[in-house]
This record gives sequence, C-alpha cells and structure tokens, in this order.
Amino acid sequence: MNTTRISSGLRRVGLMATLALVVSACADDKPLNTFEPAGPKAQELYDLMITDAPFIAAITVIIFVLVIFGTIAIAVKGRVKEEDFDEDDLPEQIHGNTKLELGWTIAPAILLAVVSIPTVATIWSLEERNETDELDVMVIGQQWWWEYRYDIDGDGFFEDADGDGEQFGPNGEGGDLDDVEWPLNIALDDDDLVVANQLVIPAGQQIDLYLTSRDVIHSYWLPRLNGKRDTVPGRIHTWSIEADEPGEYNGWCTEYCGLSHARMRMSAVALPQAEFDAWLENQIAGAQAPAEDENSPEWRGYQIFQAQCMSCHVVDDGELAYGQNFEAALTAGAAPNLSKFATRSVFAGAIYSQYAGIDADDDDLFEQIEAMGGDNYLDLSEVGRFNEAELKRWISNAPDQKAMAPEDLRGMPAFPQLTDENLDDLVAYLHSLD
Ligand code: CUA
Repeated sequence: MNTTRISSGLRRVGLMATLALVVSACADDKPLNTFEPAGPKAQELYDLMITDAPFIAAITVIIFVLVIFGTIAIAVKGRVKEEDFDEDDLPEQIHGNTKLELGWTIAPAILLAVVSIPTVATIWSLEERNETDELDVMVIGQQWWWEYRYDIDGDGFFEDADGDGEQFGPNGEGGDLDDVEWPLNIALDDDDLVVANQLVIPAGQQIDLYLTSRDVIHSYWLPRLNGKRDTVPGRIHTWSIEADEPGEYNGWCTEYCGLSHARMRMSAVALPQAEFDAWLENQIAGAQAPAEDENSPEWRGYQIFQAQCMSCHVVDDGELAYGQNFEAALTAGAAPNLSKFATRSVFAGAIYSQYAGIDADDDDLFEQIEAMGGDNYLDLSEVGRFNEAELKRWISNAPDQKAMAPEDLRGMPAFPQLTDENLDDLVAYLHSLD
C-alpha cells in the first residue's frame, strides 16, 4: 500500500469520526437514548451497565480499545512499501504456541463467566411477565411500519385458526402457534382493537407484548422503555415495556429489513390511566361514516377512499369490511388500519408528523399539543391542523417520499390519477376519522 492511499484512507477515517461526533452532538436532546431510562425495564438495563456492574462496561471498553488500536498498530508496524513488496519474501513460518493458545482460550472464558453472572440475572428479570391479563398488545412488524393489536376482552388475540377449540390466549396460555392465523391479515376477534404506527399505553403499568412480523425480521426498540427484541415471521417473542410517566417515547427498527429500514420508526405514547381509558373507549367505538352529501368534502373523500384505498386499508366504521385484497395481504401487502387516523400524531411509519406544529422528532408531544390550545393527547384532532401538504404529497406519491416496492406489494403505490381536489377531499375524510 502506498503512502498516498494510506493518507487518503486516514483522511477518510478522520472525516467519518468528525462526522460521527457532529451527528452525535445533534442527538443531544433527541429521544433515542438508552442512558435516559423512563421505566423499570430500561432502568434495569441502565443499572446493569452503569451502576450495578460497571465492570462489564469497563471490560468491553478495554477490549474494544485493545482490539482497535492493536489492529492499527500491527497494520502500521507490518507495513511494506509497494516498491519493496516481494511475493516470495514470507515472514518466518511458525506452528503452534501452546501457552498463547491456552491463554486466549482461558482468559475469555473466565471473562465471559464473570460477565454472565449479572447479565443472565438481568435477562431473566427482563423476561418476567406481569402475570395479569389486563392489557396485552401484539406488535406486528411489517415493511416498513408497526401494527398494534390490543387484547381488550382478554379472550385471546385471534380466532381459533386450526379449529382445535383453543385460542392463543393472554400470556400464551390455552392455545399454541397453530391457533394464530398467519400471516395475520384478517383473523381478529370482534372485540380486539387494531391500530397502526402509534402505540398508546397507560403510564405506570407493565404492558406485556407479543412480537411478530408479517414479512422479514425486524427489531422492536423503544430505548427509554426497554432493550431490543427481534420480531420474526412465524414466531412470537414475548417482551414487555413500562413507562413511569406519561409522555412520548420514540424508537427505531434495529434489524436491517430492506429498502426503508432506516425509515421504520416507532412512537409510543403513555397516558395517565383515565386518559388512556378514554382513548381506548374512543378507539373501540370505531369511525363514523360521513353523512351522504355531495357538497361535503368528507363524503366525497369517503367515496374516493372506497374506490382507491380500501383494497388495502381498513377503516372500521361498521360499514367497510376489512381490506379486501387478501392476496396482497398474503404477500405482506397489508396496510395500516386507518380507523382512527386523526387521533395519531404520526403517519407513514411514524416518520412524518400528522399535525402542523408537532415535530415528529421531538418527545415533548404533550407540550406541543398544549401550545396548540389542547389539554391533552386526546385533544389532538380537535385543536390540530393537519400537515396537509405533507399528507397530500404522501397520498399522491408515497414511493417518492420513502423508498418502497409497491410493484412487489411492499409499500404504498403512487396515485397520479388523484386530482388536487380529490386529495383535499381525501384529507377532509381522514381528518373526520377521530
Ligand atoms: Cu424493520 Cu428494519
């Protein structure tokens, strides 16, 4: 390797390091921070790293430094100028060094044994379920957004898909995986609730989750509420989250899952119990179909929705059936349930803010709603003004906003046939879904 190449390589490394520093500085007030735990599960992880067993962090840092600087030192020391390079000039060939080999086997074994004691205890503790059937949520990853199914009536999430009289019940009792209808497109109890993009939970309560996926492996991560857990198609992983205080907690898919992996975000909103109960009641009530009136933009939007959107999206208003494009659903074409679209603060896989005056990247959602004149999260649709331009851009050409492959039923197609007036009507209809 010649010196110009090395120095340009070094320059590049230096540039990347500087960039990383700058970027991490931007993240200072950002919500994806493991070091700001906001619930008991995340606190346990924080304690393991920082207070209870800081030697683990110390060991990993020491190993990191040794490996990185050792590699650099060896590369620099063993460097041969290109003009001096001789293929036949091999270093002295040696074989076997028993002491060294025993050393690098035994030392890591001892280190791992020591590290495993507090780590394994924490893993077990993080696995603990709350043992109540109060509120369990199934989390379904999908290219590139998250769906949440609430078990409201405690009778299990799904129909008895294999016909053996059992259901996949709360805490996994009663049924088995065959009782879950894969790939999760239509099988739903009447009493259960499906929402998309924004998870709403009561604060101060452990929420048990069942994680799975419709297509590829994703990973669910709300860093202030708990660690990461993979969501795997055909399997159900258990996990749980808890937020001490009401607030918004953001997250990011952390398993590479294709085109828009980097734009597969998650948003969880924790509410005081009374507000959560009101939210739940409103969600269960479903949407209202607008009254027939050719002069009403909501009604016109509703007609367009039925003609253009309903083959993938669901609005549960007692009139529309679930998405009718079952074939699409079977190949991961299921789309977000829009029943109470206007109650959410984010859309498009939680990457865009639904309302003007709300910053999707900020976690002070409640303050922002107050600044708009609302008392709480439930007032959002009442006091908020839709981010109309963004929403219309999204509806008319989603693949232009976020990389997708609608031709393979991954993501939303563009709708170039919709006129500006059509889009206004659709947005009016969507705003009525509150
Ligand atoms: Cu889903 Cu990465």
